Amino acid sequence: MKHETVLVLDFGGQYNELIARRVRDLGVYCEVHPYGKALDKIKELSPIGIIFTGGPNSVYAEGAPMVDPAVFRQGLPVLGLCYGLQMMSHVLGGEVQSAPTREFGKTPVHYNTESLLFKGMPEEAICWMSHVDYVSRLPEGFTAICHTAATANAGIQCEEKGLYGVQFHPEVEHTQFGNDILKNFLYEICHAKGDWSMKDYARTTVEALREQIGDGKVLLALSGGVDSSVAAALLDRAVGDKLTCIFVDHGLMRKNEGDEVEAAFAGRGMRFIRVNAEQRFLAKLAGVTEPERKRKIIGEEFIRVFEEEAKKIGKVDFLAQGTIYPDVIESGAGDAAVIKSHHNVGGLPDYVDFKEIVEPLRLLFKDEVRRLGLELGLPEYLVWRQPFPGPGLAIRVIGEVTKERLDILRDADAIFREELAQAGLSRKVHQYFAVLTNNRSVGVMGDFRTYDYTLALRGVTTTDFMTADWARIPYDVLEKVSSRIINEVAHINRIVYDITSKPPATIEWE
Ligand code: XMP
Repeated sequence: MKHETVLVLDFGGQYNELIARRVRDLGVYCEVHPYGKALDKIKELSPIGIIFTGGPNSVYAEGAPMVDPAVFRQGLPVLGLCYGLQMMSHVLGGEVQSAPTREFGKTPVHYNTESLLFKGMPEEAICWMSHVDYVSRLPEGFTAICHTAATANAGIQCEEKGLYGVQFHPEVEHTQFGNDILKNFLYEICHAKGDWSMKDYARTTVEALREQIGDGKVLLALSGGVDSSVAAALLDRAVGDKLTCIFVDHGLMRKNEGDEVEAAFAGRGMRFIRVNAEQRFLAKLAGVTEPERKRKIIGEEFIRVFEEEAKKIGKVDFLAQGTIYPDVIESGAGDAAVIKSHHNVGGLPDYVDFKEIVEPLRLLFKDEVRRLGLELGLPEYLVWRQPFPGPGLAIRVIGEVTKERLDILRDADAIFREELAQAGLSRKVHQYFAVLTNNRSVGVMGDFRTYDYTLALRGVTTTDFMTADWARIPYDVLEKVSSRIINEVAHINRIVYDITSKPPATIEWE
């Protein structure tokens, strides 16, 4: 399953993962690793080229990150970006100085389009600069290939050795033709063939899985989330009847979700076991109001149900997990550990009897997982599913969780989701849901006094779910959602929209 690989060495810049994404989108597999592991990684990955990222340091600062000079003796093409350029110049005997005028933001740049790096590009364009230092004297054998008003050596090359660098950031959108620069590096300088596409990935991974699994039995815990669903579809294509998927339906899913998961997987030829465990979970949750206790009870019960089902199958050879790239690799310029453990199915390996773990998505970013899911024929509603917490609606029903309250929430939440989709907002708002509060208030419907629940709507935009802003959903969409819920769902007489960001609030209410 070896793909041509480009190694991105991380010097602490902000755009490192973005560089990897751009390279992959251009058809070349790419991994980000800390700069200190450069030689090990070169041996392990046999890359076709290396990219040095930017970083916050000055090459003259104490402890500034430097690449091992031996990296330049491997005969591999290198592209240094921003700090990466300065560091390369410094290590190879050039000089870096603090600039009298700092360049920041959109900056006009003049390219020498005879350089392979700028082949086919216009001679003038806008680039995104963000630097204080600049290369004041080039290392031997290098020439300048682009300049700005303030910086003569905004781009440099030593064509003979395949070493290139630019002072700006081709990976960000503000740099016009930035993608062409990366593409030229990959295809003109590293001579990539471009063997990274989801179609190829699906094909080569299927072959590799067949070889690895042979006649063995594979077990997968399917949650219905994107990652485990795509892992299931991939394994199904690879080994079909050797795969058993266990889907523990805890009765805390959104409206129709359990049936949707079943519809997508049952009948594909693999063994798909849906355990309807609603009663068990609700019995355990009866009378429980404290959020962390709810989580704990659900987590433990999940393991118990899964274990019972797994035991019926007996010994399996492989336990499959939907681990993806961000779960595996934690880049960082420091020498800190590179591996982060995967928490989605925490604990499973301890109590299921198996020989080996298979993680067929561990090279992929989330949106690559989605593309692969579509490639494998999974329905859009599974592939584009927004994140959904393991404890499900139990933490969106504030206070005690009962079947009746879950059903009220499910109906209201379904309307909210429907209307957001209708308004074309379902991918723009990154997570959105309804919360059934335990607050009741007085209302009037027709001529009658009501005393019913307040429902809260929550929508957030975020990149990493660590911080989030409340989504500016247009008033007319909120109005439609509100009036439909009040009219169509019994026991709700008041609806509020949550306008707090995270922090200080969290995304979920519990
Ligand atoms: P918070 O509420 O912490 O949520 O801002 C951040 C993201 O994590 C999800 N979340 C959970 N996911 N188990 C999960 O698997 C949980 O107990 C849990 N709590 C929150 C939440 O939906 C959001 O995407």
